[in-house]
Amino acid sequence: MKIKLNDLCKRFTSGEQVLENISYQEEFKSLAIIGPSGGGKSTLLRILGGLIMPTSGEVAFDEKTVTYTEKELLKHRRNIGFVFQSKGLFNHLTGKENIMLPLVHVHGYQKKEAEKVAVGLLERFNLGDDGGKFPSELSGGQQQRIAIARAMAIKPRLLLLDEPTSALDPELTSEVLDMVKELQDDGQNIILVTHEMGFAKKACDKIIFLVNGRLMEAGESPSLFSDPQTPELSGFLSKILEWKV
Ligand SMILES: Nc1ncnc2c1ncn2[C@@H]1O[C@H](COP(=O)(O)OP(=O)(O)O)[C@@H](O)[C@H]1O
Ligand SMILES: [Mg+2]
Repeated sequence: MKIKLNDLCKRFTSGEQVLENISYQEEFKSLAIIGPSGGGKSTLLRILGGLIMPTSGEVAFDEKTVTYTEKELLKHRRNIGFVFQSKGLFNHLTGKENIMLPLVHVHGYQKKEAEKVAVGLLERFNLGDDGGKFPSELSGGQQQRIAIARAMAIKPRLLLLDEPTSALDPELTSEVLDMVKELQDDGQNIILVTHEMGFAKKACDKIIFLVNGRLMEAGESPSLFSDPQTPELSGFLSKILEWKV
């Protein structure tokens, strides 16, 4: 899939500029957005997903410019799956019902059809036993896998993941990353915000590095990691790796 960002800026009404003149054009299968906290990664992802509007500039996927009007954004969002850091599931619904809910209420499925899709997804991702459980009965990793299955239910052209493992205990991270990798291998287009540098390096083909709202570096993985071009990226990577075993 092709992404094109043209001079993208975002300023919230509270004032400070959060994204500054981001321009980027690339063909990708799996794009990772990395960078220090507060740098604008989530804001950028939400703009790409049509959840918020840029202040100025343009976003295009496969040469089609995203029009930031309510009507067009509704269409845009229908092609996009979104997974957030955590707390994405409704606690009063089972895993299966969580997957069904948006299909019925947003995408106009009959309940029966939605259930069929949900059961299919639970099986595909080895979550069959968890579909009848409530989020409080599932581990954080299982909850995130259900959230990813839910995002996949509409067969999105693009799946956006915002730090899907950052709220998890370390031993639960790999089951979620394995699932993301499986989707990538199946050809799913993915844009992922992550602090898991190992995953970004091994499983993503393109990387962008955001610092304080600016695109400091962009390139191919894994070479961007082995050969950082800016002191900011070198510094960021060494900080992240300092205490790794
Ligand atoms: N809705 C908002 N209103 C005002 N400021 C915001 C809003 N969302 C994010 N910000 C600010 O934008 C900056 C970037 O935030 P964010 O995109 O969440 O960064 P990251 O995901 O890289 O940590 C931060 O300074 C944050 O406080
Ligand atoms: Mg964020």
